[in-house]
Amino acid sequence: MNQKLVDAINDQLNYEIESAHIYLAMAGYVGTLGLDGFENWLMVQYEEELAHAKKFMAYINERGGRVSIRGFEDPNNDFSSLLEVFEVSLKHEYTVTERINNIMTVAHEVKDYAAISFLGWYVEEQVEEEDNFGKMIDKIKLVKDAGLYILDQEAGQRVFVPIVK
Ligand SMILES: [Fe+2]
Repeated sequence: MNQKLVDAINDQLNYEIESAHIYLAMAGYVGTLGLDGFENWLMVQYEEELAHAKKFMAYINERGGRVSIRGFEDPNNDFSSLLEVFEVSLKHEYTVTERINNIMTVAHEVKDYAAISFLGWYVEEQVEEEDNFGKMIDKIKLVKDAGLYILDQEAGQRVFVPIVK
């Protein structure tokens, strides 16, 4: 496989591992909010990112390339809300999509049709990732409104009690 393409895929392999840690840190934060379900959701995302990295690793090996694992900066561990976690995540996924598209461009440049076919899976996966995070943001916003609605109902039940003495 063309070395420029191997390097691009290897960079992304490392970025997927970094992504996994970003979501692991988010899962930790969400756990402190007592949101066990969302913690689980983000731990599944962590597992998915590791699976994406492993798939790249297996492909580089299959094509006779050399994998090189690197370190990365500490992920962000501090957030202000669940909504912020998901908004940061969606932005992160936009970056991942851009990166996958760039690798696809390299594959086209070097006319590696097998790699183009392989990378197609990631192109489609990113459509799903953006949709997953985007929908969750919509739902979190909707639930917030619904919560306000419930509280509004409760507030509507309050009645004036005249002072008896
Ligand atoms: Fe990924």
